[in-house]
Amino acid sequence: MRLDVVTIFPEYLEPLNVSLVGKARARGQLDVRVHDLRAWTYDRHHTVDDTPYGGGPGMVMKPEPWGEALDEIIASGRSASDAGPWDGTSSEVADSGDADQTNLPTLVVPTPSGRPFTQELAAELATKRWLVFTPARYEGIDRRVIEEYGERTELHEVSIGDYVLAGGEAPVLVIVEAVARLLPGVLGNAQSHRDDSFAPGSMSDLLEGPVYTKPPEWRGRGIPEVLLSGHHERIARWRRDQALLRTRSHRPDLIERCDPDTLDRHDLAT
Ligand code: ADE
Repeated sequence: MRLDVVTIFPEYLEPLNVSLVGKARARGQLDVRVHDLRAWTYDRHHTVDDTPYGGGPGMVMKPEPWGEALDEIIASGRSASDAGPWDGTSSEVADSGDADQTNLPTLVVPTPSGRPFTQELAAELATKRWLVFTPARYEGIDRRVIEEYGERTELHEVSIGDYVLAGGEAPVLVIVEAVARLLPGVLGNAQSHRDDSFAPGSMSDLLEGPVYTKPPEWRGRGIPEVLLSGHHERIARWRRDQALLRTRSHRPDLIERCDPDTLDRHDLAT
């Protein structure tokens, strides 16, 4: 998978060299390219923002640097035969989100006003060949940029939660990590995301319960007996009960939303 990130703080993306994502890069499973938006500015101060039309506090990111950056990055992913500026007429316009067949990237625009980032969206993004992230600072990017590229390619405006950060770089790190660990071969043990909280499957819609490792006693605290029993069915039942209890306590909304058919009669007794 290819990932491009356009930012005014390239150094903010350095964690992409570390751990799971860093290793996936080193193995050639991820091709990550971080670009400095200011490379597409031409004034002495490398200006990327300006005052908002209509007044109000803060600054808005200017459309021109974003337009040039995205045109150049998008053109870099196209074959030599059709390279060149998009002229607005070709059949490449993605009208049903099938950017992958047309050598166009899927754009991911982090914004607190976006669609909530979920495991489901992570799984959807993990099927894409090429993602381009546009983390903004200030009050966001001039709306015309989102409109322009939303008409040319698949584009998702994504929020990582109901709070406002100083910029979209931290959300990019969050989204990339969630997506990268779903790519085939990136996670050492493919089983490890099977029981994740929010993973599709038998524990879907439930939060993961507690986990334990050696030593069997630590500061006078032991391990739940059932985990030492070697009885796989009882262990599975216990894990599911713990997941249910935890979900009820931390996220009752998930229980309310879940499909009653996914609960068995033992669950109802928990
Ligand atoms: N930019 C600032 N806050 C954000 C959030 N919560 N999610 C995504 N992008 C953001």
